[in-house]
Amino acid sequence: MDVRPFWLAGRAETSGDSFEVTHPYDGSAIAAVAVPTPEQVEEAVRAAHGVRHEARALPVHVRAEALAHVSRRLGERADEIARLITNENGKPLMWARAEVARAVSTFRWAAEETRRYGGETQRLDTDPAGAGRLAYVARRPYGAVLAITPFNFPLNLVAHKVAPAIAVGAPVVVKPAPATPLSALLLGEILAETGLPEGMFSVLPVPNDRAAALVADERLPVVSFTGSGPVGYSIMDSVPRKHVTLELGGNAAAVVLGDADLDWAATRVATFSNYQAGQSCIAVQRVLVTEDVYDEFAARLVPAVESLVVGDPWDEKTQVGPLISEDAAIRVETWVNEAMAGGARVLTGGTREGGSFAPTVLADVPADAKAWREEIFGPVLALQRVADVDEAFAQVNDSAYGLQAGVFTRSLDVAFRAHRELEVGGVIIGDVPSYRADQMPYGGVKESGVGREGLRSAMDDYTYPRTMVLTGLDL
Ligand code: SIN
Repeated sequence: MDVRPFWLAGRAETSGDSFEVTHPYDGSAIAAVAVPTPEQVEEAVRAAHGVRHEARALPVHVRAEALAHVSRRLGERADEIARLITNENGKPLMWARAEVARAVSTFRWAAEETRRYGGETQRLDTDPAGAGRLAYVARRPYGAVLAITPFNFPLNLVAHKVAPAIAVGAPVVVKPAPATPLSALLLGEILAETGLPEGMFSVLPVPNDRAAALVADERLPVVSFTGSGPVGYSIMDSVPRKHVTLELGGNAAAVVLGDADLDWAATRVATFSNYQAGQSCIAVQRVLVTEDVYDEFAARLVPAVESLVVGDPWDEKTQVGPLISEDAAIRVETWVNEAMAGGARVLTGGTREGGSFAPTVLADVPADAKAWREEIFGPVLALQRVADVDEAFAQVNDSAYGLQAGVFTRSLDVAFRAHRELEVGGVIIGDVPSYRADQMPYGGVKESGVGREGLRSAMDDYTYPRTMVLTGLDL
């Protein structure tokens, strides 16, 4: 099997060492990937740090054109890239295609935002002491960004770190998830077509136990991490003086109220608790339904879940494929069994076959069960009857996490109340918490992380405002 090169300061490199990437569905080997040596990692970091002034000074039209090129090329190669994602991640082709389409949009938005990112002026003659003075405030990058990316969106969550970095003129070093490095490497191939300066990007598939050295390296002043809470907070604690952004997990809730369109709500909840086998931080995990419509909703939800097409991710019709590994599926099974031992009832699903777990609906899950309190990251939802909207919102907030919540209602008053009261980074009215448009701010509160993605927000995260005061002006 050919060994795929990695990207070191914009050029393809190999080393004497490699590792295998396997397909989650059948365990077959799909690629061998070269592992950078410590010396090669050092060269990539030195190059990223060294190019930071040139990167910051790149004219906006150069950055915008590079980003637009990536967007265009992702679109042209969409079918091939979707197949690559399915190969390494195991997500069904339909979701892989959706991910590529989103990455096209992520880079397109970055190209557009960089043209708009011009800073602002403030008149200072608002007080006598500021007579004749004007402030110009523009954001400048901290320096090179270390992007540590997860397996669940191996292309678009890399795009969400790389595109804003280029947009603000910051070099970026990507450490992709070891299970799914191929999409990030392909992105490196497309970035290499852009003519961005050497050192502007590297993609280094190093094992996780070598990430700490990159995190600690002072030449990478920004660390943008997406993944698990324990790893994220250990990063933050290890470099308290760095600018760290964390996109962590959640146990996202959907609230279904009496005025909701129950057919729509059931279809959406069924689909988005199981998309990508539940391996999304905003997959629906907890469903709170007011008692006036609980039985009607459950009667629609269970058949909707049972009608999902499960199986081979290569089949165009498949909606639910395997988890990333058999170990991951075994963990989900353990949590479901623990919930059942505590009194939960299985309304459908609950079974595992190798690395696949059947789409599952649980009811009466005890409040202290992991399947309710923690992030299950599997195709399992827990249905809960609540008295009213007060109890529903209290339950949403009774969580260590706060990423997104969905509220199925037709009431504008309830929508604004949800926005006021729910302790989450995003409230989706009339749909599941899993809705994400790539340009909108995305991130959590509580243990779901700090910082925001979404192009504009990530550009803010990678930069700080620098103010210039002009004096003696005739305003
Ligand atoms: C995530 O799992 O945090 C990302 C979800 C998404 O981009 O849709």
